[in-house]
Amino acid sequence: NYYAILMAGGVGSRFWPVSTSSFPKQFHDMLGTGETLIQKTFSRLSKIVPAKNIFILTNERYNDLVFEQLGGITQRQVVLEPAMRNTAPCILYAALKIQKENPDAVMVVAPSDHWIEDEQAFTNNIQTAFDTCEGEDVLMTLGIKPSFPNTGYGYIQYEKGTKSDVKMVAQFTEKPDYETAKSFLDQGNYLWNAGIFIWSVNSIVKAFQNLSPAMFDLFDKGMDSYNTSEESAFILENYPKAENVSIDYGIMEKSTNVKVLPATFDWNDLGTWGSLYDKLDKDVSDNAIVNGKTLLLNAENNMIRTSKGKLVVVDGLNDYIVVDKEEVLLIYPKKKEQDIKKVLNQVKDTFGEH
Ligand code: GDD
Ligand code: MG
Repeated sequence: NYYAILMAGGVGSRFWPVSTSSFPKQFHDMLGTGETLIQKTFSRLSKIVPAKNIFILTNERYNDLVFEQLGGITQRQVVLEPAMRNTAPCILYAALKIQKENPDAVMVVAPSDHWIEDEQAFTNNIQTAFDTCEGEDVLMTLGIKPSFPNTGYGYIQYEKGTKSDVKMVAQFTEKPDYETAKSFLDQGNYLWNAGIFIWSVNSIVKAFQNLSPAMFDLFDKGMDSYNTSEESAFILENYPKAENVSIDYGIMEKSTNVKVLPATFDWNDLGTWGSLYDKLDKDVSDNAIVNGKTLLLNAENNMIRTSKGKLVVVDGLNDYIVVDKEEVLLIYPKKKEQDIKKVLNQVKDTFGEH
């Protein structure tokens, strides 16, 4: 009864110029290991969920990329979205499909762009969560011990004094402002939301029914056409009408039956060049280099990624991101990495898609 949904519909614009809207980061070998992020995520999940029960949720334009990169899957497993509506609509749609197929399913929802090295710990944690969700009407998430007041994450306040590994959640707060995040860290009983959710298909469908009835009705209306030739016409017409909202704001913040399992693996949300830099091996001067042959003089703390085999010579450069692609060269200060998203919009306005 184990299922997984792998969310692979984001664009990853802060990883430009490698990640683009026609070829987003999850389809790239960001770590330089020979495997793309989606391949790594699929293989991690297949240690605990039968490969045929792993569904990939993505925009319809990435269908070919998914099939090129994941061998042995069938179209049944690839849930295509005709519009970008964030994570709540695609999770509900996939959950309804899985519920039709197997009403006793328990499932894990996983982003396609995380760095998790300890696969054994990951498998153990998911198993614990599956065991909890099989017997209870709960929405589970994995929690990460926070290290600084990051405002890009969800925060989970758990109830102190619970002896078991799985803890009851008092409040889920998505992306608080800096002051709030800081006060959460000071209080101590908060975890970051890893963005990995575990629940029975019945519990999540019920949660949508109660907390997001309009979205539930929208997709539920199409239930009769599911797995018939009319399904894609129904989705094409109705999917774009769904509210554009993440699962975190749409469901998790409003739910009262949330539990958290503190993760026992190291985790990194590969969201920016800096977060990738943190995870890569460095040379003696703390430069992280992907793909290139480099001659670096007086160069420290740089993140350098080139096309395969290109020779890069650098002198006198510290704390920069240097990313070379055939038609684009980005040289950008590491501390301004969040601005790459904005700069990309400027690039698009001036030069078009790159
Ligand atoms: N299929 C599909 N369709 N996937 C999507 C869509 C969509 O429209 N939008 C986003 N995704 C995918 C992204 O590719 C990513 O793998 C995952 O869903 C999460 O989306 P993000 O946009 O990366 O969310 P976030 O990082 O701002 O916040 C979430 O993750 C944090 C941890 O990384 C939240 O769950 C936070 O609470 C959490 O702390
Ligand atoms: Mg993210």
